[in-house]
Amino acid sequence: MSTAQAGNDQVIIFDTTLRDGEQALNASLSVHEKLQIAQAIERLGVDVMEVGFPVSSPGDFESVQQIARTIKNARVCGLARAMEADIDACANALKVADQFRIHTFISTSDVHVQQKLRKDFSDVEAMAIHAVKYARKFTDDVEFSCEDAGRTPIDNLCRMVEGAIKAGATTVNIPDTVGYTLPFEFQGIISNLFNRVPNIDQAIISVHCHNDLGLAVANSMAAVQAGARQIECTVNGIGERAGNCSLEEVAMIMKTRESLLRVKTNINHQEIARTSKLVSTICNMPVQLNKAIVGGNAFSHSSGIHQDGMLKASNTYEIMTPESVGIAKTKLNLTSRSGRHVIKHRMESLGYQESDYNIEQLYADFLELADKKGQVFDDDLEALLFNIQQQDQQDHYQLAKLNVQCGDGEFATASIKLVAGEESNTIHSATGNGPVDALYQAIKQAVDVEFEVSDYKISNKGSGEDGLGQADLVITWQGRNFHGYGLATDVIEASGQALIHALNSIHRAITIADIKSARQEQQG
Ligand code: KIV
Ligand code: ZN
Repeated sequence: MSTAQAGNDQVIIFDTTLRDGEQALNASLSVHEKLQIAQAIERLGVDVMEVGFPVSSPGDFESVQQIARTIKNARVCGLARAMEADIDACANALKVADQFRIHTFISTSDVHVQQKLRKDFSDVEAMAIHAVKYARKFTDDVEFSCEDAGRTPIDNLCRMVEGAIKAGATTVNIPDTVGYTLPFEFQGIISNLFNRVPNIDQAIISVHCHNDLGLAVANSMAAVQAGARQIECTVNGIGERAGNCSLEEVAMIMKTRESLLRVKTNINHQEIARTSKLVSTICNMPVQLNKAIVGGNAFSHSSGIHQDGMLKASNTYEIMTPESVGIAKTKLNLTSRSGRHVIKHRMESLGYQESDYNIEQLYADFLELADKKGQVFDDDLEALLFNIQQQDQQDHYQLAKLNVQCGDGEFATASIKLVAGEESNTIHSATGNGPVDALYQAIKQAVDVEFEVSDYKISNKGSGEDGLGQADLVITWQGRNFHGYGLATDVIEASGQALIHALNSIHRAITIADIKSARQEQQG
């Protein structure tokens, strides 16, 4: 057993929600949305966060740079193929951070080397070694991944790991890229590396498991048992195809079964529920009700026998408490008579510090909501805060007024006043086959953007029939998808906000593209 395997009980949590997770989304995220997620992940206490693939697009480069500038309590990392141009882009985006990691990778399995790369293994090995040495010119924190390691012949894998460590990789990652291996098999691969690679104690061994057979979490934990000390994972397990290893699951496994596993992480477990909700909302990826740890039913007990047991002693049917992952126990109902101090107190119980929000703004929105719906619940308060954070940026379009009429007549009609930028302020009316259609036709008239609505849904945010209505939609513009989100007591208003939100993301994408082409013109 090597020194990396023995004695060290700390497992590094490497979050890749904003890279592997983001690349699987139906719609791109704005820089602001990525920053919101990065800040939540920082509060969650991850050690390293991989936040993008800077060479892939100007938008990705910009968001990696912004996040690197902002995040102080986690190591920020960018992905690069084993190519100098990718590594240059990564280093340029990340250099604004005090310390950063470059993660470079190349495929090592026969099928990838021969069919995808159309190369010999020795060429790939040389590229890997060159990439690691090149990345080390920019930072002393370089991670190397053997893509499709799970299907790589073990002799080749040992050779690649040894070479990468010799070239200067400080972390070597063993991905099960296609989610093919079984826990005992994957554990065997990691044990083999520890037994056969002579310099293995000079790097951290990491794992990155995909969930195609539903084994990503089991495989990651089996690897930890064999000596891996970094797990790559995502919030809610989002990622390519069936997703990645779920962060909240591995974190709670290591906490709940610490005495058996004898490993720990730096995760602030009480941030789990909130981070999960934020990622789900921003990414438009609902969490299944029966998902472990963060699913809506994860802590609810339906059968009479279970309920009876829970009333006698909660550990009869609960191996961890909802509070331990940040689900508040008491749900206080607030009304328009509740003062600022009550709101502050409630926010504190929900885990927010005063510096996380502006009490005046939150209180004003709270009063408006309390007037509309009487009682305001914890979910509503969190939703109001999320809404404020969403608006906390320079929006080009704003829906200043909205009036929709519908009923049993032939048409629904909508009139809107739309503000676009500082000068333009126009009024439009349209009819449609329902109130949302009429509203969207009016907005279409008002904006100079050709788009198609490709997905639209309304859900109840909060509890009961007077919960807030949440509208989510995806619109397609020039082959790219943009997600929009809106929240209001009136679902038509929420639908309008969702479309305006998506249109603002398109506007920002157009602005970034304009800046880039102006830069290119200047250079060329
Ligand atoms: O799944 C995979 O192999 C990856 C690598 C880039 C680490 O995402
Ligand atoms: Zn992956």
